[in-house]
Amino acid sequence: MSDYLIAPSILSADFARLGEEVDQVIASGADVVHFDVMDNHYVPNLTIGPLVCEALRAHGVTAPIDVHLMVKPVDRIIPDFAKAGASYITFHPEATEHIDRSLSLIRDLGCKSGLVFNPATPLDYLDYVMDKIDVILLMSVNPGFGGQSFIPATLDKLRQARKRIDASGFDIRLEIDGGVKVDNIAEIAAAGADMFVSGSGIFGGARDSDPNRYDSIVGQMRAELAKV
Ligand code: DX5
Ligand code: ZN
Repeated sequence: MSDYLIAPSILSADFARLGEEVDQVIASGADVVHFDVMDNHYVPNLTIGPLVCEALRAHGVTAPIDVHLMVKPVDRIIPDFAKAGASYITFHPEATEHIDRSLSLIRDLGCKSGLVFNPATPLDYLDYVMDKIDVILLMSVNPGFGGQSFIPATLDKLRQARKRIDASGFDIRLEIDGGVKVDNIAEIAAAGADMFVSGSGIFGGARDSDPNRYDSIVGQMRAELAKV
């Protein structure tokens, strides 16, 4: 497969100069801006909301913005993100009372919809909604923080999710989030993922002012993916 998407998670970027960080990582060849929304309720951390998404669009960011909601509930905030310029909006099935309704709400607002699976959440939630989703996101860490290690059992879960997608016949992305680095991205792609979130793996290096400082890391990830 050649259309792999690399999605840097801005959770590990320098928030004091976020627009510049996003411009530079996209200029380095990344495809999608992964935008982690945390509420100190569904997960034990607090991050950013629609205002920041809107600010990135106003700054001139045209790349797709992949809003990963780690909030509960989700329906109240989904329209705000659609209005703020989100391209994808994904949520955890445990965080809404009505999964089908929340997925439909996202699509009705013109965004791509997706479900996110925690490490111990079964894929059964997909059973009756494959026609309503554009992306399946598997968490390979417990959500809430960047910089954690990839949980190996996720590789088998990726293979199971890939089988479900292929059997469905729908055009659905298989996204992975947590602990993705240059040294494991090929193995993760071989297990079936085609969209790769990486926070500390991309932004974790030195905070220097070289405008091309992400070229090397994104290039190395592409080179690894080319081997699959
Ligand atoms: C964790 C977030 C991730 C996080 C990944 O809850 O959903 O997107 O930024 O960070 P790394 O790549 O450092 O594991
Ligand atoms: Zn995320």
